[in-house]
Amino acid sequence: MRCLITGGSGFIGSNLVDRLLSLGHQVVVVDNFSTGIRSFLKNACSHPNFRLLEADILDPPSLAKIQNAMEGTEVVFHLAANADVRFGLEHPRKDLEQNTIATFHVLESMRVCNVKKIVFSSTGSIYGESKIIPTPEDTPFPVQTSLYGASKLACEGLIAAYCEGYKMQSWIFRFVSILGERYTHGHIFDFYKQLLKNHDQLKILGNGHQKKSYLYVQDCIDAILIAIEKSHDKVNIFNLGTDEYCEVNDSVAIICKELNLDPTLSYTGGERGWIGDNPFIFLDTKKISSLGWKPKFSIKDSVLKTLRYLKANQDNQDILTMRQQDT
Ligand SMILES: NC(=O)c1ccc[n+]([C@@H]2O[C@H](COP(=O)([O-])OP(=O)(O)OC[C@H]3O[C@@H](n4cnc5c(N)ncnc54)[C@H](O)[C@@H]3O)[C@@H](O)[C@H]2O)c1
Repeated sequence: MRCLITGGSGFIGSNLVDRLLSLGHQVVVVDNFSTGIRSFLKNACSHPNFRLLEADILDPPSLAKIQNAMEGTEVVFHLAANADVRFGLEHPRKDLEQNTIATFHVLESMRVCNVKKIVFSSTGSIYGESKIIPTPEDTPFPVQTSLYGASKLACEGLIAAYCEGYKMQSWIFRFVSILGERYTHGHIFDFYKQLLKNHDQLKILGNGHQKKSYLYVQDCIDAILIAIEKSHDKVNIFNLGTDEYCEVNDSVAIICKELNLDPTLSYTGGERGWIGDNPFIFLDTKKISSLGWKPKFSIKDSVLKTLRYLKANQDNQDILTMRQQDT
């Protein structure tokens, strides 16, 4: 299969690239390296079935090059986005542009190139603060609480409309937070960086009782590949997560134990770490499980794998200087 992956040098995208190449597929990556890391594609770059196009999906003159690279593609995996939920209110155009407008450009390019299948990385954040927990895919139309969630829900709407209008087919995945190798943003990253700087203090956003669900990146990729193979509706929507959740304080305890540290914890307070932080994210994953998928790793395993990856790469400035604003 010939695949094009937008955002293929990012955390999830680069893991997907390696998996698809190992399965014998041809892979083209389109990435502008805004948050992607070149070394994540080191192995892929020496593979004969791999091609990299450095281009910005938002840049109109680049669209012709992207469409050129898209010719003959069977499936577009659209992962390029602003993946940071927390800072939306600091730059209100960013989610609209990087997520919604970029998705529109990808869909338009697909239409021009007659590519019919799109896989899209959406998010559990589109559920806002759903009252139904675990939250199923068909929960009552959710009230949005973050610009990130709103921009991703708009993407889902555009994708469904393109599927209806131009006879495309889509697989939309609403992820919980993903953990694992090449993780470059999120709470474990923030905590680890804080503890590297100062072993004795750890600042936690909110009261630490926020309940979150996490999924290991390879389990996430397994689920995506199973869903594409086994579900054939026009628009296929799946929650991806584990059947457990934990408190932020539980993650902190796992991290401190693994690092053998006992910092003084301070809390910014309140049920939410920031505006738009959902105090309880737990997705109903019966739909994806019904296809025979089951995560192989628990939340604790995933936190430990992530931490060990960060420890092994703590001198890699590409990774640890990423997203300075996270700390
Ligand atoms: N990581 C998570 O926990 C999580 C959870 C839910 C959803 N998602 C979604 O999964 C996808 C991948 O997330 P990630 O964690 O790997 O993020 P990431 O930031 O590591 O990867 C995003 C990639 O997209 C590229 N990119 C961004 N804007 C671009 C543009 N205009 N043109 C070309 N390339 C561009 C970046 O350079 C980067 O390589 C995103 O769509 C994100 O919203 C991630």
